[in-house]
Amino acid sequence: MSATATTTGSSFGQTRAYDSGGRYRSTWRNAKLGEITDEERTEREKKAADINESYYDFITDHYESGWGSKFHFSGYQPEEAWAAAAAREEHYIAYMTGIKEGDRVLDVGCGVGGPAREIAVFTGAHITGITINQMQVERGSLYNFDHACSIEAMCHSPDYDKAVSEVFRVLKPGGKFGFADWLVTPKYDDGNEKHRVIRDTIERGGAVPHLQTAKARIASLKKAGFEVLLAKDLALDKSNPIPWWHALDNKHATTVWNGWLMWNLKESVFNVVYKVVGAIHWMGFLHPSRMEALETVAQCVYGCRDGGKEGIFTPMHLFVRRKPENQGEKN
Ligand SMILES: C[S@@+](CC[C@H](N)C(=O)[O-])C[C@H]1O[C@@H](n2cnc3c(N)ncnc32)[C@H](O)[C@@H]1O
Repeated sequence: MSATATTTGSSFGQTRAYDSGGRYRSTWRNAKLGEITDEERTEREKKAADINESYYDFITDHYESGWGSKFHFSGYQPEEAWAAAAAREEHYIAYMTGIKEGDRVLDVGCGVGGPAREIAVFTGAHITGITINQMQVERGSLYNFDHACSIEAMCHSPDYDKAVSEVFRVLKPGGKFGFADWLVTPKYDDGNEKHRVIRDTIERGGAVPHLQTAKARIASLKKAGFEVLLAKDLALDKSNPIPWWHALDNKHATTVWNGWLMWNLKESVFNVVYKVVGAIHWMGFLHPSRMEALETVAQCVYGCRDGGKEGIFTPMHLFVRRKPENQGEKN
């Protein structure tokens, strides 16, 4: 198994070669939450690679401290710890994608490789993890994968149609692409201001240039040539009686460690941390990216939580697609 990741985090007080937080903020400087237009989203898609590069530079250590090596959400069984639920979701995606021992599998947008390692151990497959950037830059070196998977990464793509076409191209005929993605659900109403604010907050906090509907994503997948095997929102799945966002809303922790992490995510606790870090920052002891990182993490956590609560957002819409058998190998 080989899993690669391009981004690393920076720790408190560390000075980076450039101000990734400032770079990220500058991309969104005109964005008024609740008023982002589709034209702005289209413009932002063109800069998505840059947005994500700066975002993952300053946010990776926050993700790691809260979520470990797996940067995705999962629904829960009543007694289930966060790590067990994450592994269960990865096993499920691997199972639904048909990944088996000895397969060569591509993980698109692998983060720091936690899910890739889990799926390799679970299935015995060889997983190659890449970031979306790498997929574009090094696409010539990728070929003939048995299957591909992706967890909560396709939504970052600068050009979704192109990304999907590339995955199609590197799959063997009959190969499957199983992935969980961030979407707005059919309950989302663009005429509702609260919904719009939540959607814009998730996009701003999660480095997502354009949160889409399942319908739009299915159209892209069909356009690329994929057969439709499955499209379902795992957030509504009965095997997850405790919703994914309960961990963000102080409602689901079954271990002391999870309880501690969940307590840290409470808005009241965050507000105190924000003030303390703000004071240290004001005294000049912190890299400027730290404040942007804190604000962005808060937008991500509370935007996702509110989107989950309202039922207008899902981070885990599962698609399983197949490249038809009659399609040739990659050219
Ligand atoms: C929410 S994380 C999910 C990571 C991984 N699939 C997991 O579940 O742990 C989204 C990932 O998409 C990848 N990604 C997306 N767009 C990227 C870009 N433009 N540059 C670098 N990485 C990108 C990064 O690897 C990032 O960690």
